[in-house]
Amino acid sequence: MTSKTDASTASPTARATSPRAALVTGGSRGIGLAIAEALAAEGFALTISARGAGPLDEAADRLRAAGAQVLAVPADASDPDDLAALLDAHERAYDRLDALVLNAGMGFASPIADTPLRRLDTHIALNLRGTFALTSAAIPLLRRTAEADPRGARVIAIASLAGLMAEPGLGAYGATKAAVVSLCEAVCAEEGASGVSATALCPGYVDTDMAAWKHGDLDPQRMIRASDIAELAVSITRLSRNAAVPVIAVHRADGGLRGA
Ligand SMILES: NC(=O)c1ccc[n+]([C@@H]2O[C@H](COP(=O)([O-])OP(=O)(O)OC[C@H]3O[C@@H](n4cnc5c(N)ncnc54)[C@H](OP(=O)(O)O)[C@@H]3O)[C@@H](O)[C@H]2O)c1
Repeated sequence: MTSKTDASTASPTARATSPRAALVTGGSRGIGLAIAEALAAEGFALTISARGAGPLDEAADRLRAAGAQVLAVPADASDPDDLAALLDAHERAYDRLDALVLNAGMGFASPIADTPLRRLDTHIALNLRGTFALTSAAIPLLRRTAEADPRGARVIAIASLAGLMAEPGLGAYGATKAAVVSLCEAVCAEEGASGVSATALCPGYVDTDMAAWKHGDLDPQRMIRASDIAELAVSITRLSRNAAVPVIAVHRADGGLRGA
């Protein structure tokens, strides 16, 4: 839970030559951990976050063992106070934010007719409200980072194919993920001139814990790999600031390009 960087004592020159830094929510397992690993291999210093401190520390240790500089901050990504503390910890450690990876998310399958509003509210609190809150709070640091780096700064949100095309049973989840797609487009529209842009990565089923409920009718071997999403996330960070990529749909190759 410590960082080698102490931005409060770093000189401006040290900051300018410091490694690029990324903050990954939901970074203790699944897609978030795969993205953290890929960004670390690319040379990024990392802040990773999740609710469970134990698995988060294990993930951080694993990343450090591979040579990464890692700050691990437990936080509930649906809690605005936790998110403010998380961003503050990241900023104090690195004083730059080249990639904000908005990955923490949840989904509960039920037909709209059987979905109580409190279940919709739970989806909104994490998938939309928390995602919006962290994006909004991070924009000043993203802008400042983009000002000093020709690659600009990126927001990378893990939305879902269910946010682009409806899947029966995923109405509440899909609606919040559609909103994340819209949020990324709005960031591109508002912040493009400052070198900050956003990408909504929209995968179909990815073989992680979250998709385990689907194993009965979908072979996990045929699901998208978390490493596929990580590969796309890292490639976005290699683009010049001139290229904005608001949305990427990632289908299962044998899914007929329909649905998740
Ligand atoms: N797997 C799929 O098929 C699929 C497809 C499309 C999109 N996605 C999206 O991809 C993202 C990652 O999913 P995944 O499949 O990698 O899930 P996962 O394997 O279940 O991992 C979820 C990660 O997010 C963290 N997390 C969950 N709730 C959180 C909260 N309230 N605050 C902070 N962290 C939280 C978890 O740690 P803690 O539980 O300890 O907090 C964990 O690190 C989600 O946004 C999901 O909607 C997944």
